[in-house]
Amino acid sequence: MTAGVPVRIAIHGAGGRMGRALIRAAPRAGLAVVAALVRPASPLAGVAVPDSHANGVPLDYSAALDPDAGATVLVDFSHAEAFDAAVALAVGHGLALVSGTTGLDERQQLLLDDAARRVPVLWAANFSLGVALLEHLAEIAAARLGPGFDAEIVEAHHRLKRDAPSGTALALGEAVARGRGTTLAEAAAFARHGQTGARRDGEIGFAVVRGGDIVGEHTVMFAGVGERLELTHRATSRDVFAAGALRAAAWIGGRPAGRYRLANIFD
Ligand SMILES: NC(=O)c1ccc[n+]([C@@H]2O[C@H](COP(=O)([O-])OP(=O)(O)OC[C@H]3O[C@@H](n4cnc5c(N)ncnc54)[C@H](OP(=O)(O)O)[C@@H]3O)[C@@H](O)[C@H]2O)c1
Repeated sequence: MTAGVPVRIAIHGAGGRMGRALIRAAPRAGLAVVAALVRPASPLAGVAVPDSHANGVPLDYSAALDPDAGATVLVDFSHAEAFDAAVALAVGHGLALVSGTTGLDERQQLLLDDAARRVPVLWAANFSLGVALLEHLAEIAAARLGPGFDAEIVEAHHRLKRDAPSGTALALGEAVARGRGTTLAEAAAFARHGQTGARRDGEIGFAVVRGGDIVGEHTVMFAGVGERLELTHRATSRDVFAAGALRAAAWIGGRPAGRYRLANIFD
């Protein structure tokens, strides 16, 4: 933000839970939402956005980005299937991209790298400060405790979440793997059912809970013989993710093209 001029953001996935949380929180964060983008066939297209706040001008949900809206940052919280379109939109309009969409595959991560050659890009599986710290602590604990402690990651989310394990659980798994000098691809155990046999040494196990309206809970467990360390984060409101993403949007505008991490803005 420069001298009281709010950063102008377009939101992709504006009708979703996170999209609505972002629109509510933007004025408090000093940002102006100038476009609320929904998928092309959405019944919301053309409907007035509740809580919209674009310099006092009411806003309608829209399926296309109006270049005259003057957005400089695209904030995407949509769906993995809609993600390629969000990246193309940011690159096509020369907008910085802040995305929290999860369930991305390897190709889509490479797409982000590619986009980062043209525009500034910040993608994070979780925009809360607490989780950023948890990732750091998990890496340290994995390194210090060593192979005598079995690492398990347990996550819980609301019944409507579509991807599993959560992007945050995977990021925590990567952190544990880094701490042990291995990779998640080598160590992950995503499913256990039936006659599994004993636990494989060095495995990083995942367990997934889905139910009700749980916003997001993650535990990294290090189970040793005779003792157990558990590091837990609980989000009780989506507003915490919205606040982190809006902080990232305010931070990234005007930066050179490149791939940024959430740690860059919290540092
Ligand atoms: N990084 C973080 O901190 C964090 C935190 C919370 C959630 N998330 C992630 O953020 C994403 C959204 O979460 P949510 O809880 O808000 O989900 P949600 O309520 O299902 O919202 C997703 C929105 O994306 C829209 N969408 C789907 N296809 C689209 C397209 N082609 N173009 C534009 N919009 C499209 C959906 O529209 P329709 O309903 O019309 O299909 C819906 O409004 C998920 O991937 C979730 O895992 C990340």
